[in-house]
Amino acid sequence: MKLADLNKVALAMVTPGKGILAADESSGTIKKRFDAIKVESTEENRRDYREMLFRSQEAMSKYISGVILYDETIWQNAKDGTPLIKLIEQAGSIPGIKVDEGTQALPNCPGELVTVGLDKLAERLKKYYERGARFAKWRAVIDIGTGGIPSMTAIRVNAHALARYAALCQAAQIVPIVEPEVLMDGDHDIERCYDVTSRVLNQTFRELRVQRVELEGMVLKPNMAIAGKKSAKQASVEEVAEKTIRMLKACVPAAVPGIAFLSGGQSDEEATAHLNAMNRIGNLPWKLTFSFGRALQAAPQKAWSGRPENVAAGQRAFTHRARMNALASKGEWATDMEKKAA
Ligand code: 13P
Repeated sequence: MKLADLNKVALAMVTPGKGILAADESSGTIKKRFDAIKVESTEENRRDYREMLFRSQEAMSKYISGVILYDETIWQNAKDGTPLIKLIEQAGSIPGIKVDEGTQALPNCPGELVTVGLDKLAERLKKYYERGARFAKWRAVIDIGTGGIPSMTAIRVNAHALARYAALCQAAQIVPIVEPEVLMDGDHDIERCYDVTSRVLNQTFRELRVQRVELEGMVLKPNMAIAGKKSAKQASVEEVAEKTIRMLKACVPAAVPGIAFLSGGQSDEEATAHLNAMNRIGNLPWKLTFSFGRALQAAPQKAWSGRPENVAAGQRAFTHRARMNALASKGEWATDMEKKAA
């Protein structure tokens, strides 16, 4: 493993003023997104939609450091025959690949999940590297519920799998994005999210150490400390920022080059405002940026709605969100910038 090269890629992924586009929705998830805009989820429509994003020249070259792809997309060609991965490279952005194979029920832990996909991962990584992927993603899902959820069992097996994946990536000269996502689906308050996420992060870094993963050659993709969507007690932007930073400082070693947040179901502007407020706090040991799926794509999906005549509008909507989040990665975003563009 060449650690200096892994570190270089990791740092490029979290360059201030840039962030990551998570366009790696599985076939099931993209179908849900397309259902919402009444577009049929065919291979061609998925290709056209993603081609629209990757051909957004301004967004891709100025604000998007890397793109996480789904297996189907990494092998797909644009309408004119150019591999989609080439469009990303030509824009100066780094292609990445989602390598987990989703979740399965965790035995003996009713209601809890474990992420799978380690079998044959070494061979798959080799093929993805040859195709041009320089980083990967694996998402573990931890739910907050009642009756002992999350269990320590779920936290431990998911942390173990994340570390196995990360070690295999580094051996294949691919930077692992380590994503232990604590869901914001419940009615829990911010304190409970803070506690659960802290336990999850501590266990994840314990496993990464046990399995000798080089922290300089990875990127962490966590959730923010935030109240559940159904909680009556929502925290202010400042509180989310302050608690998230306090939590990360306690749990994430300074050797990690960067942290790129998931949006997790926050609204577009909330996700941007939170990232911005965290970067305003300043004096942090790691770079803080975005690796958003929904908070970057909800607007372009709506503007596009599957119609070729809306491609320019879709690209404008994507470029706007990419620019807003790029500003937030430097703490330079303000609410009135949203109004001017509306
Ligand atoms: P969201 O930003 O929509 O949460 O997606 C990011 C992601 O990649 C989840 O794995």
